[in-house]
Amino acid sequence: MTVRIAPSILSADFGKLADDLAMCEAAGADWIHVDVMDGRFVPNLSYGAKIIETVKRYTRLPIDVHLMVVEPEKYFQDFVKAGASVLTLHQEVAPHLDRQLNAIRELGAQAGVAINPGTPVESLREVAHLLDLLLIMTVNPGFGGQQFIDYSLDKITRARAMLHSCGSTAALEVDGGISRDTITKCWRAGADTFVAGNAIFSAQNPSLEIALLRGLCSVTT
Ligand code: DX5
Ligand code: ZN
Repeated sequence: MTVRIAPSILSADFGKLADDLAMCEAAGADWIHVDVMDGRFVPNLSYGAKIIETVKRYTRLPIDVHLMVVEPEKYFQDFVKAGASVLTLHQEVAPHLDRQLNAIRELGAQAGVAINPGTPVESLREVAHLLDLLLIMTVNPGFGGQQFIDYSLDKITRARAMLHSCGSTAALEVDGGISRDTITKCWRAGADTFVAGNAIFSAQNPSLEIALLRGLCSVTT
């Protein structure tokens, strides 16, 4: 079964971003997760196209861009041009999901939708067949280093069942509070793609932590 580890550079040291990216790649990370925040959809600001371009320059790994912004469609073109491989927008700010997902795909990127802890999985049922990725937020978005929300596990199970029922091969990603304490239960619930910021970049040995997180997705007992 597929397991993807996607380090979130929100917790990286930007003074040595190129080194951190090289470390992730050498440690076997699958994607690099880039969190774009606008101070409106979430109460925090981060970065935009310039950082995606920089990440693109220093890694060959696919760039997984998480758009925590209102009016996400304003950025599709620039971000794909900058090097985004996956663009994930939030359901809560997307009244035209069908159009928006198609727009991302027409630009040549993969299209994902994220849902906040309070948003039901079922709100994506009608577009499930259009998704390349479904992101279940396991914290309230906006900050790294928060505590995993346990009731997300049931949502992961339901999301997996929904994707299965429409024959979708979309990635099922979880984001927020993913660590050695929480990754196995997410994997068992059906997630296959794991974003981790704090757990990796605050670890004593970040590359070992990437391997360890991956290993915890094959624990059978
Ligand atoms: C939070 C972001 C996450 C964040 C995760 O809103 O979407 O990607 O970087 O950080 P950790 O793994 O520290 O919870
Ligand atoms: Zn994220």
